[in-house]
Amino acid sequence: MPYREVWKGAVPHLRCPCPHRAVWGHGEQGKVPASNIVVSAPSDRNLAEWREWGCRTTHCNLEVLQESTVVFLATKPHVLPTVLQELRPAVTSQHLLISLAAGVSLQKLQRLLPTGTKVLRLMPNLPCVLQVGAAVFSRGSGVGDGDAALLQSLLSPCGLCEEVPESYINIHTGLSGSGVAYVYLFAEAMAEGAVKMGMPGALASRIAAQTLLGAAKMLLETGEHPAKLRGDVCTPGGTTIHGLYQLEKGALRATVMNAVQAATERASEMGED
Ligand SMILES: NC(=O)c1ccc[n+]([C@@H]2O[C@H](COP(=O)([O-])OP(=O)(O)OC[C@H]3O[C@@H](n4cnc5c(N)ncnc54)[C@H](OP(=O)(O)O)[C@@H]3O)[C@@H](O)[C@H]2O)c1
Repeated sequence: MPYREVWKGAVPHLRCPCPHRAVWGHGEQGKVPASNIVVSAPSDRNLAEWREWGCRTTHCNLEVLQESTVVFLATKPHVLPTVLQELRPAVTSQHLLISLAAGVSLQKLQRLLPTGTKVLRLMPNLPCVLQVGAAVFSRGSGVGDGDAALLQSLLSPCGLCEEVPESYINIHTGLSGSGVAYVYLFAEAMAEGAVKMGMPGALASRIAAQTLLGAAKMLLETGEHPAKLRGDVCTPGGTTIHGLYQLEKGALRATVMNAVQAATERASEMGED
């Protein structure tokens, strides 16, 4: 079967909040032509944008299911049970359902779907839209290596995509999904420090962002532990160690660890709700 045909029915169900631009046939990175994608939602709020990208849209969820084999479920978590109830009679063993709903466990998804339905949980983060995202996924029972590879291949243009045990998914939310906001706060604080010392705000923001980008690239490309790279820029008695001392005095390390813990726990609570 030609590669193109394999994807003929590959569709995102509803608006996929993060990876769509990269995955769905935009530019060189896309793997699925937009014309092969059908998206549903009750209103036109998000659908207009999908149409602009060349995807077909509908207000009927069942239509998506009937025309597709790969279906992304990207509603808010509290809406998902109602959607699954609607889809349930039409789900077959040919379908691969991929839920993005934060906190909704594989066990719950499997309970809401016919026995043996192939279902995966996917958790992307916002930078997927720029192809530098970090996504993780876990598979439910009955999902084979081929299906997992298919998802990984679809998501590969979005950045990192790794299979993990399901217990890591909420941790990923606390670390990476919410983590982008921690980094924005840090960028803002760095820039404001520079403004305090007399640099214009816009310039300070650009330099702060570029500093974070450079530091992240160094981490990824050298593969070194952050402590090693930090040590490399700490001249004894120099500027960096004086700055770092203030961060340690302000308990930055423990505060960030607590932030990841709090967001992870909140993701678990939301799943229980
Ligand atoms: N945003 C992120 O960065 C991110 C990251 C990881 C995971 N997620 C997860 O992705 C999901 C969506 O988040 P979001 O931020 O993209 O929310 P969103 O912008 O509100 O999108 C949700 C979509 O679901 C549609 N919808 C509502 N009820 C529906 C129904 N009965 N049948 C079909 N479609 C229905 C909505 O339609 P209307 O347009 O008509 O309202 C809307 O287009 C959430 O579960 C979230 O946890 C989001």
